[in-house]
Amino acid sequence: MNTSIEFEKELAAKEAVKLLSNGQIVGLGSGSTAGYAIREIGKLVKNGLKIRAIPTSDHTRDLAASLGIPLVDINSVDAIDITIDGADEFDSSLNLIKGGGGALLREKIVASMSTDLIIMADSTKKVEVLGTFKLPIEVIPFASNFVLKQISQLNGTGTVRRAGTTEYVTDEGNYIIDVDFGPINDPSSLAAELNGIAGLVGHGLFVQMAKKVIMGVGSTTRTFDL
Ligand code: A5P
Repeated sequence: MNTSIEFEKELAAKEAVKLLSNGQIVGLGSGSTAGYAIREIGKLVKNGLKIRAIPTSDHTRDLAASLGIPLVDINSVDAIDITIDGADEFDSSLNLIKGGGGALLREKIVASMSTDLIIMADSTKKVEVLGTFKLPIEVIPFASNFVLKQISQLNGTGTVRRAGTTEYVTDEGNYIIDVDFGPINDPSSLAAELNGIAGLVGHGLFVQMAKKVIMGVGSTTRTFDL
């Protein structure tokens, strides 16, 4: 673990939770940066903050519950006020690659329902062009070989993510294909192409979804707004 990167994640998370207020429905992201935020929110809730939260993964649900953060069923709400989440990469237009932790499908659903999507990042996540981080794509297991072939027609090279000796399985029971597309110069077009592939249920390109990125850098934070 790189302690200075961890410190930047923690700084970004502490800044992001300042945006929460009483009465909100809050989407809780997944991953290590989101973990810092969730632990901060746990402290705020103990001190009287009144929110209801929607987790984006089983891990986040368990962490939030263990900290006494009230949870609400996503299907019982029409909208989410604010979601705070991490990212694997972001560019200057605040387009993102997400899904390194495998929670991209629920993360995208929660982000799509959110008025404000706030991303927390350490300084390694800022890139000129998306695509150094392999793009995670979630597929139903039945379609994995078909989707691999479709991706190769889009000049992507994919491998099914493994967890030890077997395939990695998401919270929704699907596989992840990590795809090297090279530099993604037009995230919007690639997202549209991916959205049309049968059996592909989600991908980690979040185009024009984030409202703000709060990045830890050294001992301070820098905020990027749309
Ligand atoms: C989880 O599936 C991801 O989208 C995470 O938000 C992303 O991988 C960032 O993770 P870290 O905060 O652990 O870097």
